Amino acid sequence: MASSGEQWWRDAVIYQIYPRSWADSNGDGIGDLPGITARLPHLAELGVDALWLSPFYTSPQHDAGYDVADYRAVDPIFGDLTAFDELTTRAHTLGLRVIVDVVPNHSSNEHPWFRAALASAPGSPERARYLFRDGRDNGELPPNNWRSQFGGPAWTRVTEPDGTPGQWYLHLFDTTQPDFDWTNQEVRDEFEDVLRFWLDREVDGFRIDVAHGLVKAPGLPHVDLDLDPSVAATALSPMWDQPGVHEIYRSWRTLVDEYAVDGDDADRILCAEAWVLPSDALAQYVREDELHQSFNFEYLMTPWLAADQRATVTRSLAQAETVGAPQTWVLSNHDVVRHATRLGYPQVSGPQRIEGISADDPQPDAMLGLRRARAATAVMLALPGSAYLFQGEELGLPEATQLPDDVRQDPTFARTDGTSKGRDGCRVPVPWEGGVPSYGFGPGDSAWLPQPVEYGVLAADRQRGVVGSTLDLYSTLLSVRRRLRLGRGTVTWLDGYPDDVLAFSVTATNGSVTVLANLGDVPVPLPADAVVLASSQPRETGAVLGSDETVWLRA
Ligand code: GLC
Repeated sequence: MASSGEQWWRDAVIYQIYPRSWADSNGDGIGDLPGITARLPHLAELGVDALWLSPFYTSPQHDAGYDVADYRAVDPIFGDLTAFDELTTRAHTLGLRVIVDVVPNHSSNEHPWFRAALASAPGSPERARYLFRDGRDNGELPPNNWRSQFGGPAWTRVTEPDGTPGQWYLHLFDTTQPDFDWTNQEVRDEFEDVLRFWLDREVDGFRIDVAHGLVKAPGLPHVDLDLDPSVAATALSPMWDQPGVHEIYRSWRTLVDEYAVDGDDADRILCAEAWVLPSDALAQYVREDELHQSFNFEYLMTPWLAADQRATVTRSLAQAETVGAPQTWVLSNHDVVRHATRLGYPQVSGPQRIEGISADDPQPDAMLGLRRARAATAVMLALPGSAYLFQGEELGLPEATQLPDDVRQDPTFARTDGTSKGRDGCRVPVPWEGGVPSYGFGPGDSAWLPQPVEYGVLAADRQRGVVGSTLDLYSTLLSVRRRLRLGRGTVTWLDGYPDDVLAFSVTATNGSVTVLANLGDVPVPLPADAVVLASSQPRETGAVLGSDETVWLRA
């Protein structure tokens, strides 16, 4: 494997920007690339290594840009290629690497290839880039019983160019997101070319959307509907985690390695969004000749209970170790309820609820949620490997749990007739300045989703330089982590603490820490001579470790 220098990605902290919600430069209420460029110093001060941009490509925005109509162009709502180049140059000047999203499972129905497919006959090469099939029962029923991830059937019937009811096409997501046929060499060649297009524009890597979905089981067999349709069933499902995906990633790895120049720590990386369980199946994605990283969603969904946390961390580290990969920790992203809100609910063993919340649902205990979120982040950022942060978590932003239904834009909401509230609650624009319209998101009065009033006090300018703020906590954790190189360290669990306390040391080349996280109700005394390097709550010297608090002590 080609690799260069330090392999920066092994312990990188990578900050996810959801472009429509981070910073708006032109006042239209939607974030954009120039807005991002202007705010990049925030990330440099925070102390992350890289940023990942969710899609900003030309798109009708039916799934907030995860429906791409042109993989090589910037949508005018976000800017243009010049704005992208300016963003990348500025980021690199600030010492930040830039990861972009690639969406290879499906395109938009407005992609020229899909338009050509609709205009062409069944069996044509144009149709062969997607998954068109004849229906069952004289064509009237979909080819199989697969369901869309966003609700409803995974097939839509087309009208043929001659006006007759015709074939069906597969879409694992919205009807406007037709799935590609990855057995088609033309599709493979096209995406390798897309990767090269962005690598030539100096990007440092890609986050691969729905990385476990590209290849479907031969013959597209029915799903056993008795199976739990959740991620836990991936190993048994004909649409997820098929062996053929690995061959694609081996070839992508060879491609990105061509761009790594020996010795200058310039690896270009690939990170999978693969909702694959169990964890040994997930580890296959990060074998030495495949991807560099794969999000650890099992960790994201682990409740804030000491036994569950200990088990997940132990298993995750061991699985990554078997293939020599770093673990890739994550607690929040644009598809799940923010962890400051998830953790504000009673914690029960088993995977956590990540689905959207509405005003009719039980509301979280916001103070408790934030307290636990800070403690959980302080655990995550001590762990060896890479970690991803989602925009606004460094401000302690909660989910917007009371959005009115008429502002919701996630297609999940409409496709389930509102049964599932969708993912808008975590996508609400970021507050930069308290007390001004749109909390400084942009020069206009509004944002594409309304911001909850509590975002005002959490705005970045209200926290910057304030000791004990969530922003201050994140900067402290990131700076100690970097100084001691904890991301390259080794975890050892420590005995002698109550069961409800996660206690481990991280031994790294530049120093070691003892991490104590109290997930129980009973305060725990700290060693008398403890030197506190970071603490999830402001503390007095010598104080006990309270409930839902994490400390890093000099070991
Ligand atoms: C991924 C994205 C999600 C999107 C879906 C379809 O899961 O993270 O936001 O809706 O893929 O592209």
